[in-house]
Amino acid sequence: AKGRLTPGDILARKGGSPVVCLTAYTTPMAQLADASCDLVLVGDSLGMVLHGLPSTLGVTMEMMILHGRAVARGLNRACMVVDMPFGSYEEGPEQAFRNAARLMAETGCQAVKLEGGQHMEATIRFLVHRGIPVMGHVGLTPQSVNTLGGYKVQGRGEDGARVLADARAVAEAGAFSVVLEKLPGTLGAEITAALPIPTIGIGAGADCDGQILVVDDMLGQFAGFRPKFVRRYAELGNAAADAIAAYAADVRARQFPGPEHIFEGKAR
Ligand code: KIV
Ligand code: NA
Repeated sequence: AKGRLTPGDILARKGGSPVVCLTAYTTPMAQLADASCDLVLVGDSLGMVLHGLPSTLGVTMEMMILHGRAVARGLNRACMVVDMPFGSYEEGPEQAFRNAARLMAETGCQAVKLEGGQHMEATIRFLVHRGIPVMGHVGLTPQSVNTLGGYKVQGRGEDGARVLADARAVAEAGAFSVVLEKLPGTLGAEITAALPIPTIGIGAGADCDGQILVVDDMLGQFAGFRPKFVRRYAELGNAAADAIAAYAADVRARQFPGPEHIFEGKAR
């Protein structure tokens, strides 16, 4: 943990050079992200991209802790944040503190992230006052997919005032940054200008203080769906499918293993 950027360092980047954020769920991916990113999030997106769940609602504290511990081993420089899973904080500040403290103690993360704006203001304030840095998350909040009625763009037209009020509430509560998910780019810019803390966009336009993507999405490893806001920087899923098909063909044709893969030794 020595040498990692702190939540305070991230806060101090407001209005400065863009804060580069990425998710990671394993040690090797955390090591790769650590080399280039300022903040690594163990997102509850892991339920969908790693565990095949239909949404993030089934993600548990145990899953977040297991992946969080793996990611912590791979980070030397990036600030580490772990998502609070659905059901672990919504009952109230005390429940949120108990579970956030557990995530921090058992993973070694430096902060937690939770979804929600105005209705989470008291909870965020409670955590921050007791030593737990919090990253907010407003706009499209996937844990509320059933009340939002799908993964739709949030804050269009009149609804923009609600998302702005949510973001303001998160900042007012003492969060060190806030994720803005799936908003019109103009609203992302407006919220970024209005808040004293860094906004980290995912599908919220080019004017946020930083950006985040789900690593499996940007590497082309997750085939479930393809959000408009993702740029694919690699096609690792296709590369893996080709590699596995080539391996299967080689085994069937007795082309693998080759002489270089075979141990020598006298037959008895
Ligand atoms: O779970 C996740 O990966 C997230 C990011 C997309 C912000 O919450
Ligand atoms: Na999340």
